[in-house]
Amino acid sequence: MTDAHAARQPATFAFSDENADKAKVIIAKYPPRFQASAVMPLLDLAQRQNDGWLPKAAMDHVAEMLQMPPIRVYEVATFYTMYNLKPVGKHHVQVCTNLPCWLRGSDVVVGACKRTLAIDFGMTTEDGMFTLSEVECLGACVNAPMMQINDDYYEDLDSDTTEKILSTLKSGGRPKPGSQIGRHTCEPAGGLTTLTGGKASAKKAPKRKTADKGMEK
Ligand code: FES
Repeated sequence: MTDAHAARQPATFAFSDENADKAKVIIAKYPPRFQASAVMPLLDLAQRQNDGWLPKAAMDHVAEMLQMPPIRVYEVATFYTMYNLKPVGKHHVQVCTNLPCWLRGSDVVVGACKRTLAIDFGMTTEDGMFTLSEVECLGACVNAPMMQINDDYYEDLDSDTTEKILSTLKSGGRPKPGSQIGRHTCEPAGGLTTLTGGKASAKKAPKRKTADKGMEK
């Protein structure tokens, strides 16, 4: 832990009244002997209350609530990238560089993020607006490459769309989440491949360039 990081660690943490009620509801979902299973949603709740990051005091508080040894809670919090153990910017940009996203061009997404934000992975912009993180699969491989910014997924990215999303956020706007090539959720990028005969046939999605130049779907 760096000195600057230690300096920002609060001495204590407690859920707000509203979140304490939410925590009770979460814990009640699990049978008495298995309430330690509530550790992940409780850590998420604590992180949301604390501006997007989890101080040690919050992990200790969750451990006490669930009657778990604190080390078991630290193990969970340090394993998953969804928990931030130090402060993050207002917009936490998490770029997936796992295999499907990499094959579909995550390198250019990473490049666009680093260029537009002028920071590297693990860094926060000086104005505190953006933190850039590299993450493993976020479960949206079918619309790869993708990145998550706070609670929103941005998918089917290329260099231009990535820059545009970040520029919109910089200027205070809210870019439209989801596929950036206009496909509906995770339907095939080239249009429907089944049930194409009747009125239900969907219009074709626009052609997209892949990471492999010259290859189009
Ligand atoms: S590999 Fe990127 S979302 Fe799965």
